[in-house]
Amino acid sequence: MSEPNTPRAPGEPRKPEQDITGQVARENGVVETETGMIDHGLSTDGLGSPALEARGLVKDFRGPRQGFLRRSTFRAVKGVDLSLHRGRITALVGQSGSGKSTVGRMLAQLIPITEGTLLLDGTDVTNAKGNAFRRYTNRVQMTLQDPFASLNPVHRVSYILGRALTIHGKAKGTEACEAASIELLKKVNLNPPERYLHRFPHELSGGERQRISFARALAAEPEVLLADEPVSMLDVTIRKEILDLMDHLCSSENLAVLYITHDLGSARTYSDDTLVMYHGEVVERGSSAQVIDDPRHEYTRRLLAAAPNPRRRREEQTRRGDA
Ligand SMILES: Nc1ncnc2c1ncn2[C@@H]1O[C@H](COP(=O)(O)OP(=O)(O)OP(=O)(O)O)[C@@H](O)[C@H]1O
Ligand SMILES: [Mg+2]
Repeated sequence: MSEPNTPRAPGEPRKPEQDITGQVARENGVVETETGMIDHGLSTDGLGSPALEARGLVKDFRGPRQGFLRRSTFRAVKGVDLSLHRGRITALVGQSGSGKSTVGRMLAQLIPITEGTLLLDGTDVTNAKGNAFRRYTNRVQMTLQDPFASLNPVHRVSYILGRALTIHGKAKGTEACEAASIELLKKVNLNPPERYLHRFPHELSGGERQRISFARALAAEPEVLLADEPVSMLDVTIRKEILDLMDHLCSSENLAVLYITHDLGSARTYSDDTLVMYHGEVVERGSSAQVIDDPRHEYTRRLLAAAPNPRRRREEQTRRGDA
């Protein structure tokens, strides 16, 4: 590759403007970093310090043992930076296996971080242990991809919420836990709340289970909510209700939300910023309007082209003259 400052030969196309950090300036402030990531600039830029910030997160998983050979290592996440601000939703999108849940699990410190740094309100909390870890889990909560698996089927809602309230030191004793659980159920619009307290998870619909997952996360009174595919298991008619609830909780509880999803359409509607992951890397990021309405990375374009889009289909049918 030629030096950025060598003069252009006659007829040679103009090189993109390049600064000393190796970033290539594109039009309208869009920048391509030296790793090839397209950065439109986040809507949180200039908002001050984030509630939770990750710098250079890396996750290696060890492969299975193969006889006498050394176990191979698989890098599932390859240096992800992100920041979550209170009162805002950031979407993390990408195809299956791109590393979204692994990023979420590292942010929640459910799995060890191989490399990188986590900052909570500016304090380094990477791989926190003991009391520091307990304090961290009070402030950063995650709802898991599969609410069927994450709610223990042998316990009633009253026990599930009461236990979360007790663990996080928010209520003690049966009466206090029941009163606090009722408040949590109201927050997630399960009405009348008393009706839900004594049910088992299998007696709830998928949407109700997801609401219980949110209620359990709220029991800790967190600042950060990591919502891993909260609607992927749900009927399309229920999805909007649950995403509206996530949006409402983000504002009413002033939460910094990471919304992990395959669905670019809902990321456009419900998030302020979007990060697109591909093979363990963030390849494009910016405000959700910029990334989804004006995608610049080849992979984001492919992801959008693969997404079902009834309007685009109708337009194509009209162009082809189909009925
Ligand atoms: N515990 C583990 N051990 C080994 N490999 C793992 C482990 N967890 C995840 N992986 C691998 O890491 C990669 C990323 O997985 P991850 O679950 O983060 O993807 P994802 O983007 O959340 O996918 P999906 O959209 O299907 O939920 C995958 O190749 C997966 O097989
Ligand atoms: Mg996942």
